[in-house]
Amino acid sequence: MTESWATFGADLHLDLSAGRGLRAGLTEALREAARSGRLAAGTRLPSSRSLAADLGIARNTVAEAYAELVAEGWLTARQGSGTRVAERARPRKPAAAARVRHPARRGASYSLVPGSPDLGGFPRAAWLSAARRALTDAPNEAFGYSADGRGRPELREALTGYLARARGVYADPDRIVLCSGFVHALGLLARVLRARRVREMAVEGYCLDIHRNLLARAGLRTRPLGVDAEGARTGELTGAVGAVLLTPAHQFPTGAALTPARRAAVVDWARTTGGLVLEDDYDGEFRYDRQPVGALQGLDPDRVVYLGTASKSLAPGLRMGWMVVPPGLLDEVLAVKGMSDWTSSALDQLTLAEFITSGAYDRHVRGMRLRYRRRRDELVAALAGRVAVSGIAAGLHAVLDLPAGTERSVVQSAAWQDLAVEGLSAFRHPGADLPPRDALVVGYGTPSDSAWTPTLGALSAALP
Ligand SMILES: Cc1ncc(COP(=O)(O)O)c(C=O)c1O
Repeated sequence: MTESWATFGADLHLDLSAGRGLRAGLTEALREAARSGRLAAGTRLPSSRSLAADLGIARNTVAEAYAELVAEGWLTARQGSGTRVAERARPRKPAAAARVRHPARRGASYSLVPGSPDLGGFPRAAWLSAARRALTDAPNEAFGYSADGRGRPELREALTGYLARARGVYADPDRIVLCSGFVHALGLLARVLRARRVREMAVEGYCLDIHRNLLARAGLRTRPLGVDAEGARTGELTGAVGAVLLTPAHQFPTGAALTPARRAAVVDWARTTGGLVLEDDYDGEFRYDRQPVGALQGLDPDRVVYLGTASKSLAPGLRMGWMVVPPGLLDEVLAVKGMSDWTSSALDQLTLAEFITSGAYDRHVRGMRLRYRRRRDELVAALAGRVAVSGIAAGLHAVLDLPAGTERSVVQSAAWQDLAVEGLSAFRHPGADLPPRDALVVGYGTPSDSAWTPTLGALSAALP
């Protein structure tokens, strides 16, 4: 016997490893359970007779193990109240882990740090009913291990229809790969590129450092493209880079939409050099003017990998994203993803599929679009005549241009107003050849509805 289950009201797994002798093994297993907290302080242990019967060992062996642990102070034995786990056996809390830098944990009462939707807007009731329907209808095999690295077919089917309709993406359920958000997909593609011996890829001169760093850790050097009011300067692409990462619908963070001429230029580059375009469509659902900006992928589905995420439209905590992969790349993506790299829970995938096909996703996006549009209009109105606001046609953030040389002091004065906000320079690629620009990137989607008005007030007070 090497391990067994004992019934302490609840089951407790005891590892009675062979070779130590039964008594020593049981003593150590109980000591470990008390020390680690698996047996909470105060827990009443079964009588030596019933534990012995549970484990199929002699009653004396259990009684001796109990006596030893009482002597050591792990257990207490009192007439009438039996043998219990001693109070002092409560495990010590591990030292607090180093804090991860994250906007929500910065300590300021108000935050306009971009990157998050209004978490209070998560459609709890609609998600719950979609989850209930999805769970009711789920086939039994959905609860098992999946052999398909692409993820649940129901969600791939639902996304195919949605992406074609709403974003102009040429999708096919067979070429959709579900991932744990955009960063997961980007990491997989970086490994595919490295396996193809690509060493360098282009990124936008203003972009998220976590994405840049992820590529660098995967062994890819990043070469920054210029960024201006027309988006990334795709005419700067050369044969020296094997891929480019772009945010064509709404450049992050400057907010420009990539112009048709620049879209054509990037597709031409991909065709002539064999390069790959990674399209990050992180907030494509939130467009406020009448001119829809479709996905670049529609121009050349053989050379553009379309990457979408639920992080802006629903919530980053879901960790759900998807990529539409060109036919020639699918096997490589799946090989890298492998069986060890399973994605989000099948139940969440089924719930999102149900959420989309029932129309709840469209209703939610429409509702949030109105909410964000209202905030954007209030932001623009509150700052009229004080600073220029740009990048406002879409998304959940805007750029406020500041007088030259004042960015740092404005970020500092926002901190005095108890407001966390980021300067544009935080997003600048260290190697970028960009004109100096002092600005704030204001994530007006971030605050809750109740915090919005005081947050706007704090921003207004912080500006010169
Ligand atoms: C530019 C950009 N891309 C992608 C994402 C989404 O990342 P993920 O899906 O990993 O949450 C974000 C979220 O903030 C973003 O700002």
